[in-house]
Amino acid sequence: MDKQLFSDHLASISKRYDAILDDCGFDTLNVFSGAPSVQFLDDNYYPFRVNPQFKALVPVTDNPHSWVIYRRGQKPKLLFYRPVDFWHYVPPAPQTFWSDEYDIELLSKPDEAKAFLSGENAAFIGETSKMEGWDIGQRNPQHLIDRLHWARAYKTPYEFACLREANRIAVGAHKAAEEAFRSGASEFEINLAYMNAAGQGENQMPYGNIVGLNEHGAILHYTHLSTQRLSENERRSFLIDAGADCHGYCADITRSYAYSDGEFADLITAMHEKEQKLVAGLIPGTSYVELHRDCHHKIGQLLQQFGVIKTSPESAVESGLTGTFMPHGLGHFLGLQVHDVGGHQTTPEGGTTPPPAEFPFLRTTRTIEENQVFTIEPGLYFIHSLLSELKESQLADEVNWDKVEKLRPYGGVRIEDNLIVHKDRVENMTRDCY
Ligand code: GLY
Ligand code: MN
Ligand code: MN
Repeated sequence: MDKQLFSDHLASISKRYDAILDDCGFDTLNVFSGAPSVQFLDDNYYPFRVNPQFKALVPVTDNPHSWVIYRRGQKPKLLFYRPVDFWHYVPPAPQTFWSDEYDIELLSKPDEAKAFLSGENAAFIGETSKMEGWDIGQRNPQHLIDRLHWARAYKTPYEFACLREANRIAVGAHKAAEEAFRSGASEFEINLAYMNAAGQGENQMPYGNIVGLNEHGAILHYTHLSTQRLSENERRSFLIDAGADCHGYCADITRSYAYSDGEFADLITAMHEKEQKLVAGLIPGTSYVELHRDCHHKIGQLLQQFGVIKTSPESAVESGLTGTFMPHGLGHFLGLQVHDVGGHQTTPEGGTTPPPAEFPFLRTTRTIEENQVFTIEPGLYFIHSLLSELKESQLADEVNWDKVEKLRPYGGVRIEDNLIVHKDRVENMTRDCY
């Protein structure tokens, strides 16, 4: 990664932190990376997941017991944990594109941090369970966290570069996964092919990979990874939702494939077209909620075009019928977290704007603005439990159940890209890598 790009990034987020700390009445921010948690009645640890507010300040994702001490107007201090430990890997002292920007102190024991930390006019952000008795300032003040969460929606050029690189890695891995699917691999084997091509293991991935063959494509967060290989005539469809990491930034990409030509393949092609129309709707100053509503109209059009419903798209949206086939939201903010924070926030100071009652799972209700990064991920699924409910409802007569039965064995389709909203165009980081 380019040193200057990072230096500019830190300069611009420092301005942001200075103003936010000032507004919130603090001089110092103490951010803890986290401490590993031991599994219940066991001596093994859960995989370490870094505090996102720590990686927002320094690109370190795999080192517990570390701190960033950020004082307004000063070079940030990084307390970097380097124990003497013959059981575990100990990372080297940082010497990379970002390290000149920090005043770095090495800690050989977690408690050595206390000598550098002060609670005076300070706020602390991190998990508090291991911090009993530490003088670290006001713990996780909500008014400060709200301000930081709001600001994270606006990405810098360095953050764009990380997100583009995460997309490049993930798209290469998606291609390897498609090849594995076509050659008859099991879900488990496809996932191995994906991780191998990405060069990242499951603990580095931003979320559990969703790798579903046939009906499994209808389970929205299917992470079971069956080891069963399917014979050629059993292979119908494949849905994969999998990302990658770059310096703590996430990709979140979904592709759907049909094994053979036919109606389901046509549905996938039609979904790609609708998805790209929705991507073009990411216009600064417009409403993500309205784009989600537009998505439901497009799902209604597909349902009508493929003969799944007998009513008009308008009536299917109005009655809630499209919700059976696409129960999730159109997409979400993307960044240091796969579902990046602040999507329901009303103002920089806080408050919550929930989604409309008919779209309870929509994660973004903020106005679309320049420099925000989103996913767009329309889907259409044949979900057993929701279809059973529909069959018992007043809307049952509006559905061609024969067509549902024909398409049900294919599970579902979702197409998900990662987008940057620029002033006068949308950058599709995902498609730019194909
Ligand atoms: N991979 C989770 C999501 O698409 O939101
Ligand atoms: Mn996804
Ligand atoms: Mn997503």
